Amino acid sequence: MKMHKETTGPIVNADRIQGRIDKLSTFTDPDKPWSRIAFGENHRKARAWLTEEMRSLGMAVEIDAGGNLIGRLPGVSGNLPPLASGSHSDTVPDGGRFDGAAGVIVALEAISTLRDAGQRLRHPFEVIDFLAEEPNKYELSCIGSRAMAGELTDAQLSHRAADGTTLAEGIALMGGDPHKLGAPIRMKGEIKAFLEMHIEQGRVLESAGDDVGVVTAIVGITRMVFEVTGRADHSGTTPMGTRKDAMVGASAMIVGFESRALGEETAMVATVGKLQVLPNASNVVPGQVRFTLEIRSSSAEQLQRFAVWAQWHAGSIASERGLDLVCKVVGKSEPIEMDPAVQVAICDAAASHKFKYRSMPSGAGHDAAHVALLAPSGMIFIPCLDGRSHCPEEFASTDQMARGAQTLLDAILILDSNRH
Ligand code: HGY
Ligand code: MN
Ligand code: MN
Repeated sequence: MKMHKETTGPIVNADRIQGRIDKLSTFTDPDKPWSRIAFGENHRKARAWLTEEMRSLGMAVEIDAGGNLIGRLPGVSGNLPPLASGSHSDTVPDGGRFDGAAGVIVALEAISTLRDAGQRLRHPFEVIDFLAEEPNKYELSCIGSRAMAGELTDAQLSHRAADGTTLAEGIALMGGDPHKLGAPIRMKGEIKAFLEMHIEQGRVLESAGDDVGVVTAIVGITRMVFEVTGRADHSGTTPMGTRKDAMVGASAMIVGFESRALGEETAMVATVGKLQVLPNASNVVPGQVRFTLEIRSSSAEQLQRFAVWAQWHAGSIASERGLDLVCKVVGKSEPIEMDPAVQVAICDAAASHKFKYRSMPSGAGHDAAHVALLAPSGMIFIPCLDGRSHCPEEFASTDQMARGAQTLLDAILILDSNRH
């Protein structure tokens, strides 16, 4: 990696970053690279490896009540609040090697680099692997960061996955303590600042030839589950006009979501990416369809309005077709702005290395959106090839990761030098 630095300071080790990324990517379902599904065996094995990496850097390791894996290093000045950085080690099914993983690895790299340089931070430092950032069998994303901010509801904790386990049981399996989750795990002011580096998952940086994105705000996300129930019947003997086909009803609902989202004056996105059909047989009229509608916008008002309309729209199609409909909101994160002072620290860090950087919003959801409720938070984006993400082709080069890691380290040093 070419470095142009006006001030002297420790430089991250690009090969070590790549080595750790490669190692973390070995914890995958071998038949479906790259799949490290939250709560699964590969995820637990990856966390055991991360624990050893943290320990080898002299960090004290714990799993908090929300199942977040945290490595802690004391600071040299007594009694200061910690700085923190991290992301998530879980992936979507058939996902990539960088979404989440890169953010955990570069937080470790910051500590490794300081250690090599014999440099200590004034503030304590935490590397955090948040539990289950991707939507998972409990229909919820960002479970660890929501838990940290005290956002998990009793209904979410008692939500039962198809395998019969509740989210509370899942958190306990990962080493958390769901009984303590009635309140935030960390109080406002307890963490001095949080920084998350992440691949952009879009094409803005790559198209502009930029090295670093400084995130201004994270999009709001609402996820709703629709259960459409009709009547399963023989596909050969049930005339078209007499059917209660849940699949055709669900399809009409889904096409309506798309045209409404396309027609919105302010850009937003609506996606049905998960759908189950019962009984899912070629010669049976579908009796039930369950699907998830996910809507994203930078406007809380638009999200709310679309969610209300979606329920009305699905309800009217259901009643036209004699179908039953149950609809509920299973997860919400509000649009949120990143902390201005943390953004300035990231810009200054990138500028000191003459990295090309730009401010930009995030259309993807991140743990930082939830941590921002309790601590000043910021995000560093790095480019990824063709903007691809949530697919095996997801790619960021060693140099791209190193530039992001260097920006992270220098932003940490800037925040650490602030006299409070
Ligand atoms: O879904 C998201 O935006 C994130 O990649 N988990
Ligand atoms: Mn993701
Ligand atoms: Mn991610």
